[in-house]
Amino acid sequence: MKRNEIINDAEICNKAEAFEAFDDIPTNPHLGNTIGDVINRRYGRREVLRGALGVSAATALFGTSALIAPKQAAAAAGDRFSFDELQWGNDVNHHIAEGYDAKVLLRWGDPITADAEPFDPMNQSAEKQSKQFGYNNDYVGFAEIEPGRGMLCVNHEYTNEEVMFPGLGRQDRDGFQGMTKEIVDIEMAAHGGSVVEIAKGDAGWEVVLDSPRNRRITALETEMTFSGPAAGHDRMKTNADPGGMAVIGTINNCAGGMTPWGTYLLAEENFHGYFWTDVVDGDGDPDVSAQPEAASMERYGVPGRWYAWGQYHDRFNIDKEPNEPNRFGYIVEVDPMNPDATPIKHTALGRFRHEGAETIVASDGKLVIYSGDDNRFDYLYKWVSAGTVSDETAVFGSPLLSEGTLYVALFNDDGTIDWLPMIHGEGPLTAENGFNSQADIAIDTRLAADLLGATPMDRPEDAQPRGDGTTYVMLTNNTRREPGDENAANPRADNAFGHIIEIKEEGGNHSAATGTWDILVKCGDPTIAAVGAQWNPETSENGWFGSPDNCAIDADGRLWISTDQGGNWGKTGKSDGLYSLETEGALRGHSKLFFRCPVGAELCGPYFAEEGETLFLAVQHPGTDGTSDFAGFERASTFEDPATRWPDFQDGIPPRPSVVVVTKAGGGKIAV
Ligand code: FEO
Ligand code: CA
Ligand code: CA
Repeated sequence: MKRNEIINDAEICNKAEAFEAFDDIPTNPHLGNTIGDVINRRYGRREVLRGALGVSAATALFGTSALIAPKQAAAAAGDRFSFDELQWGNDVNHHIAEGYDAKVLLRWGDPITADAEPFDPMNQSAEKQSKQFGYNNDYVGFAEIEPGRGMLCVNHEYTNEEVMFPGLGRQDRDGFQGMTKEIVDIEMAAHGGSVVEIAKGDAGWEVVLDSPRNRRITALETEMTFSGPAAGHDRMKTNADPGGMAVIGTINNCAGGMTPWGTYLLAEENFHGYFWTDVVDGDGDPDVSAQPEAASMERYGVPGRWYAWGQYHDRFNIDKEPNEPNRFGYIVEVDPMNPDATPIKHTALGRFRHEGAETIVASDGKLVIYSGDDNRFDYLYKWVSAGTVSDETAVFGSPLLSEGTLYVALFNDDGTIDWLPMIHGEGPLTAENGFNSQADIAIDTRLAADLLGATPMDRPEDAQPRGDGTTYVMLTNNTRREPGDENAANPRADNAFGHIIEIKEEGGNHSAATGTWDILVKCGDPTIAAVGAQWNPETSENGWFGSPDNCAIDADGRLWISTDQGGNWGKTGKSDGLYSLETEGALRGHSKLFFRCPVGAELCGPYFAEEGETLFLAVQHPGTDGTSDFAGFERASTFEDPATRWPDFQDGIPPRPSVVVVTKAGGGKIAV
């Protein structure tokens, strides 16, 4: 399908689904029919290498027939996650496992400064929004000040105008009827991030409204600077910024990370969607062929024309500012302890649709950051700093985020991984191939990774390192992978439900250039043979999830997964939620449902704080995705007529994306 057909498809009834559909157009032209019957080949080799077959390997060899009898929800022997799993389902409210409290801590529109106006959705303004909690909370991080007090750091990924603004409904991307500069500015002020002090009192966690550290980061007016090889480069210069060093705003801040020293990283994901052009071809599609950056724009899908911003702000119109897209798609660092510190876009970490930026100190002392490029057939990357973490380098704006090497992943079909260094002058990354300096690699990271022959993946979302040299990679789905296009690490064609890869870095050192990998689970319903799902057979149907997106490691090194099925939930009837997922022992691949979202929401976060006693979750876009499949509602949500009014359930108040804080009733570690 062409882009505008996708965007105007009547079945796509909100922006989140448009995002999903857009990703259905792979922009990687370098797809090879790399491997045929890779699973059997691979596992034959792995059996020898490992001397044993794990659950996933055994089912690859023997099929899923042994797994298709659904388990009843019952405690599995040796289960390390001490909670009773939730029953799957979908309704207007959220649900948490018995014995836990899920408190709504911050909602879209809640004041985050002492001088902010209270939320009034009928009288919203950009000025008010700039002091209120933004929309579509995604990443959640926490920088502790002292036990029971710290700075909550929350990304605001995008906006759903159909449930945010009265009288608007869902916008036709070609017309944007009813859209005004005032609404655009509110949208821009609702993007970015929030940094909010919170403290634990008698009533649990509360916002400290008068904290001088509280701030909003927005797409509308927050000034930022650049570090790394692209900073000040000619391709970064615009009419408003002839030095190529100052940029306003950050967009589509999806997941992120906290550095080991407590600064906050926001990943810029689908930045392409915010750019506009009036130059179209005969089909009405953007035509960038006359653009000096045409090859780059094609590879990145710029301009996406998802929003009307370019009609009111020249910097989002490539006809006027062709270099502006080169200034988005980075990892942004914010100092949560200093509201006056100018955020930094770290160009050395590359430019792509960064899902997240999870950090770890490798065993050799280097800072390592994993980041997926969330597009069908795009790649997994990791950054390794040149220097080591020390008192001198563990600071905001550290050279550990500008001096080092970016690598892209090659998943070999023998179960090994090679991290391919992206260094100017090495291999194909030379002037003859269009890379004149490291700045070109920073700006056109995808094109450089294509030349290096990285492995095209099934939409890499979060990648979470653990201190033992292990990293978990969420591959959310890829229904555009055709039979014959499978590779060892992406073994299913028409992969509607995604899978999770476990990487073991060489010597347990996250900075290593090689390692091994295995598939932990293949998601979906294992009773449907064509799906090809693989779970630990002790998993009940409550634990069979699809579309893993974000993940976290808790204080005990255990893995938790949050999901984003988009409109696909209508096919399963299951809302998105949070699942435990065992990675060790006999229950490896065993999953249980802990929290589930209200209808139409995806679940983001998750983030454990306070030694595993506090868990932050982000319920994103409640009442929007797939509501035409919601029994009894069966139509698209609007501001006036939403599928749920979670979490307020008050007439006139639309659904509000919110951060939820989970604690154990009576205190103590979660799931222990
Ligand atoms: Fe914003 Fe890839 O999820
Ligand atoms: Ca995500
Ligand atoms: Ca998502």
